[in-house]
Amino acid sequence: MVKQPKIAVVGAGGNVGAAVAQWSSLKELGELVLIDLKADVAEGKALDLKQCGPYQGFNAVYTATDDITALQGADVVVMTAGVPRKPGQSREELIGTNAKIVNGICENVKKHAPDSILIVVSNPLDAMVYVAKKVTGFPRERVIGSAGVLDSSRFRTNISLATKTSVEDIQAIVLGAHTDKDMVPVTSSAMVGNVPLNKLLSEAEIDDVVARTKRGGADLTKLIGTSAWLAPGAGTSLMVESIVRNQGRVLPCSVELQGEFGVTGAFVGVPVQLTNEGAKRVFEVELSSNEGEAFQKSVEANKELMKVADGVL
Ligand code: 2OP
Repeated sequence: MVKQPKIAVVGAGGNVGAAVAQWSSLKELGELVLIDLKADVAEGKALDLKQCGPYQGFNAVYTATDDITALQGADVVVMTAGVPRKPGQSREELIGTNAKIVNGICENVKKHAPDSILIVVSNPLDAMVYVAKKVTGFPRERVIGSAGVLDSSRFRTNISLATKTSVEDIQAIVLGAHTDKDMVPVTSSAMVGNVPLNKLLSEAEIDDVVARTKRGGADLTKLIGTSAWLAPGAGTSLMVESIVRNQGRVLPCSVELQGEFGVTGAFVGVPVQLTNEGAKRVFEVELSSNEGEAFQKSVEANKELMKVADGVL
């Protein structure tokens, strides 16, 4: 029998987990295992999604449960468990609660899905990737944070709005920390249809795009009353797709740096090639001197958060 990839989503009763399941179902990426402390909610989400199949044209296979041992044999585990931020709150403020939650779940990932590729979505993102790597002991290829895909999507959307061009023809990435203050939207190499961004927008307009991108998550939290889920889910599902279909997409993801960008031992967003082996390779892009400084600043900020996480565990 041909085996479908098994994709376990932990925290699937929450908005982001359910969105990962939704986008992954649309693309029929594999057999989805929806795990949540609230089994009824997980089952309800699975049923609701299944009933989209006749109109959206997919046949999805789900298991929904509160039993963490359902992780057994998962090829990919998506960790979305944890509390979301509230309006006015920073992602960093969630560390005390979420480090403990992520820690507990990672013990189970290590035990029940020791060969899986683990994608972390919980916040504060980079520090949670650090916790996940520390607890599982997985090699860096198999512990990957989802945030750069989201921030880059916001960046591309803001460029699209400012230039009145299609988002699809914009190549632009956000690197560094997944925090409002330290993320690094890379404008020096941003392109619209192969035309450098600074040929299309003034310096002040580019600054505005950058500012909107950095506060993108906070703006949405203020508008909705909780943090966003559709774009976080879509970005994460893109990562899952590149892994289970061995596409080798180069996407900004948070991984442990092992000398790349002159940094060792910090977890930040960098361009990563995603294959069925996980984060196969880190791509080192050229940064302007301002961007390089901002990147180093985000590395230092994340190292501080890693220390805070250590204090919580
Ligand atoms: C965001 O920026 C939830 O961190 C996520 O929307």
